[in-house]
Amino acid sequence: MAISGQHGGNVLQMAAQFHVDPQMVLDFSANINPMGLPDSLQTAIIEHLTDAEQYPDIEYTELHQAIASHIGCDANFVLAGNGATELIFLWVHYFRPRRAMIIEPTFAEYRRALERYECDIESYPLLEQDNYQLTEAFLNSLNAGLDCLFLCTPNNPTGLMPEPALLEKIIIKCQALNIALFVDESFIDFLPHATNCSSLLSQYSHLYVLRSLTKFYAMPGLRLGYLLSSDISLLNKIRDQREPWTINTFAALSADIVLNDDDYNQATYTWLAQEQRYLFDALNQFPSLSVLKPSANYIFFTVAGDIDLQSKLMGHQILIRSCANYPQLNQQHYRIAIKSHQDNMRLIEALNEVFND
Ligand SMILES: Cc1ncc(COP(=O)(O)O)c(C=O)c1O
Repeated sequence: MAISGQHGGNVLQMAAQFHVDPQMVLDFSANINPMGLPDSLQTAIIEHLTDAEQYPDIEYTELHQAIASHIGCDANFVLAGNGATELIFLWVHYFRPRRAMIIEPTFAEYRRALERYECDIESYPLLEQDNYQLTEAFLNSLNAGLDCLFLCTPNNPTGLMPEPALLEKIIIKCQALNIALFVDESFIDFLPHATNCSSLLSQYSHLYVLRSLTKFYAMPGLRLGYLLSSDISLLNKIRDQREPWTINTFAALSADIVLNDDDYNQATYTWLAQEQRYLFDALNQFPSLSVLKPSANYIFFTVAGDIDLQSKLMGHQILIRSCANYPQLNQQHYRIAIKSHQDNMRLIEALNEVFND
């Protein structure tokens, strides 16, 4: 499948396919914070506009320091990238696993990166009968033949977190079996009280934790992510050998500003708590939808019967993410972003019209 078909946010393509003006499309398919680019960052970019006339610091020392202060770890444990996606590919390139496990359905880029390097992939299926939740049975599938495991917490597209006790057992078992554990926490900033792995870095050098700023700070076009690990020799190898300057000047200055923008962070938590509940409850009113309880800024659901909900909603100029192209899923599965109250209400109105037709 072409890469354009593998992700949300394809407004232009979908609008062309459905003969709709892209400007009019309300995009629920990409999980971006509706509060938009923080004002603090907009001001800083304008003030620093002419910095684009110089190369960024090739070592990105201040950027790494800003992230390390935010996490409370050594700056050597931090490797920033041009979005989390670049770091997935860099990690696979330099770690070069021969056999990897992916828990599916999940974010498509782990599989794409592993396939690029012809790594053997074991797919562990999340099952409908378990409500797509990872269970203790998963532990039995970890085996010494694996070089690495990709774990997405919260998982995209299901929005589920593993139980903290299970996560701990996975970390310990991976260590015992010498399996590198790549934990993608790209959405974890939306869950300020959830268990995350950043405090375990010093304890476990087989742990690689991925974060993204593009969703929480609504900057997917600016691009910034980071990888955390106490495996300094691998991080240094990547530092030494990767392409230079892949992070642009404005992305590089953004971490220090947005990570310390307490007003924006707080406003996001307040909005999400309200709208997560509103949208979850509102979706649950439709008898044909089974909705997973969300943890982050998106919601996964299954539609009963034979209805192409994405096409129906495009008729209302609303784009939702069909999950039909994820392993284990089909055209009955969808993911929607949680947006502003007004937009969320518009989605619910459109669903009312679709289901009452
Ligand atoms: C789970 C997960 N990880 C990583 C990424 C990539 O994020 P970035 O925009 O920082 O490359 C995404 C993007 O959708 C994602 O869903």
